[in-house]
Amino acid sequence: MRTELFQYKDGTKDLEILSGKAFQSSADSDVTEWFSFKEMKTAIETQRGICVKAVSGEGNLLGFVYSQQESPINGKEGLEKWVIIIMAVDPNMTGQGVGTLLLKEIEKQAIDKGALKMFVYTNKGDDKVVSFYQKNGYSDAGWVKDYQYGSNNSAVFLLKYLS
Ligand SMILES: CC(C)(COP(=O)(O)OP(=O)(O)OC[C@H]1O[C@@H](n2cnc3c(N)ncnc32)[C@H](O)[C@@H]1OP(=O)(O)O)[C@@H](O)C(=O)NCCC(=O)NCCS
Repeated sequence: MRTELFQYKDGTKDLEILSGKAFQSSADSDVTEWFSFKEMKTAIETQRGICVKAVSGEGNLLGFVYSQQESPINGKEGLEKWVIIIMAVDPNMTGQGVGTLLLKEIEKQAIDKGALKMFVYTNKGDDKVVSFYQKNGYSDAGWVKDYQYGSNNSAVFLLKYLS
């Protein structure tokens, strides 16, 4: 297993299919409702976003993660603060370290772009995902009521200081 950087010129079909599978049984099953691969490509092209893929020795996609600057309009705050927007691992490959490998690599890449803090948020009550991030050094940063689209969709935030 190895990681590769997704380039903005690459196609996203395989990422879209994999995220469809990864989120199938979750509350966020329609990924297009909350994530845009087109916007991801624009952010990567303009150096505001990074996507890392995990691939098998045979080159098959096992998972990916996408992170971006919070918002460059906020000056230093936007540049130093990054956020993980999506992380998806092939459901046949979960629990085997793919997600951990992806996190390590996206953190390294973000540090190279000046990130000092990495945030991630997920649905409040999503204990499996929270525990995954906690195992990787992320700590509780509070929760925000109804932060996400729809109703009754509060978000729990996790934070890791990068160095
Ligand atoms: C959450 C996710 C990225 C973790 O990736 P992973 O490759 O399974 O993670 P790792 O193997 O590196 O780490 C496993 C740990 O993650 C946690 N975990 C979270 N979801 C899990 C799942 N579906 N299967 C197995 N472990 C999971 C467990 O705490 C596990 O720890 P354990 O091995 O001590 O039980 C992956 O399960 C996934 O894609 N889930 C669906 C999409 C999603 O919810 N993404 C995150 C929000 S953007």
